[in-house]
Parts: sequence; C-alpha cells; structure tokens
Amino acid sequence: MVELTTGSIRLRGFSDLDQVRLAKLCNNKKIWDNVRDLLPSPYTEQNALEFIRLCQQEVPTTTFAIEYNGELAGCIGLVKQTDVYRLGAELGYWIGEPYWGLGIATQAVELITLYGFNKLGLIRIYSGVFEFNAASQRVLEKSGFKLEGIFEKSVIKDGKILNEYRYSKLKPQS
Ligand SMILES: CC(C)(COP(=O)(O)OP(=O)(O)OC[C@H]1O[C@@H](n2cnc3c(N)ncnc32)[C@H](O)[C@@H]1OP(=O)(O)O)[C@@H](O)C(=O)NCCC(=O)NCCS
Repeated sequence: MVELTTGSIRLRGFSDLDQVRLAKLCNNKKIWDNVRDLLPSPYTEQNALEFIRLCQQEVPTTTFAIEYNGELAGCIGLVKQTDVYRLGAELGYWIGEPYWGLGIATQAVELITLYGFNKLGLIRIYSGVFEFNAASQRVLEKSGFKLEGIFEKSVIKDGKILNEYRYSKLKPQS
C-alpha cells in the first residue's frame, strides 16, 4: 500500500474505517460549491462507502485520504488521462472545513505531484479552479503550478455560469 508523508501530513489509501468521518467532512455545501456535480450533495455515509470501494480498486493508487496528525482531514487524487493525453493527469482535492488554513492542501498537492512525476510516469499535472476560489488558486501557486489560461464560461455550477482558471505543473526537465 502506498503512503506518502511530510511533516504532520500523511497520504494513504482509504479504509472502511473512514466511512463515517468521510461523510461528516464531505457533507458540506462549502466543499460542493467548489467541485464537480459528481460529488453528491447531501453526502451520505452510503456515498462515502461507495467512494471508498472505488478507491480500493485502484491499481496503482491515485486517490488518497489526507491525514493530519493522524486524523482524516480530506482527500486528494490524480485522474490519469488517456490516448494522446496519457502522460498527463488532472488533480483534484478538498479539505474538511475544520482543517482549512493550516497549509494541509498545499503540502498534499506537493506530495501527490512528486508521486505523479516519480512513480506514475506523468510529465504534466493540471487542475481547473472556479473563478471565485482564491484559496485553491493560492494553493496551486504556492505548489509551483502556473496559470495557463482562463476557460471563459466553461462551467455551470449551482445555476451560475463561471470561468475556470486552468493551472499546470510540468515534471522538471521533461
Ligand atoms: C481550497 C482548499 C483546498 C484550501 O485548503 P487549505 O488546506 O486551507 O489550503 P492551505 O492552507 O494550504 O492554503 C490556503 C491559502 O489560500 C489563502 N486563502 C484562503 N482563503 C482565501 C481567500 N478568500 N482569498 C485569497 N486567499 C485565500 C490562505 O491564506 C493560504 O495562503 P497563504 O499560505 O499564502 O496564506 C479548501 O479550502 C477546500 O477544500 N475548499 C473546498 C473544496 C475546494 O475548493 N477544492 C479545490 C477545488 S479546485
């Protein structure tokens, strides 16, 4: 099982024991507002179990639980692309609200980016952020991602049409 650690952060695979806490943290409109509609809202313990089951089938692991001081604090994952885009992956993440502002997302992004480049054979990792999500834009900037462009009116979320800020990071010397 893959585990990635730095300081007080550990990325590890999801276990059935995460079900209740995952549902508790993820059932938050402030998270849903910033991610795809694929994330159920409300987010139930059944949703959490189904998600955990999907993660447990991944080979290699690309979706991780984020632990902070031993507590489940969030989730981060890479989605490998296909066909001519197969050396790239999309990055997504969320942190439970009680843990915001502690630098957890930034450290988790740095850990998974290194894993993607060094263990998954990726050369490009990208992430799309809704226009109003300044905290996530900051996370990516702090982690060495660069703004590649703004996809104007590419998103409809909660009935509102939004621009998406597209960030990427390349493997050094690729
Ligand atoms: C965005 C999110 C991942 C940030 O997680 P986090 O662990 O709090 O992030 P960090 O502590 O590593 O860094 C946050 C940075 O954003 C800054 N920030 C927070 N709110 C901000 C705001 N409204 N405007 C500008 N900057 C802001 C913080 O000051 C910090 O930067 P700093 O270190 O330079 O001071 C978390 O709030 C979250 O999960 N939100 C909901 C889901 C989501 O947005 N997922 C990402 C989708 S792209």
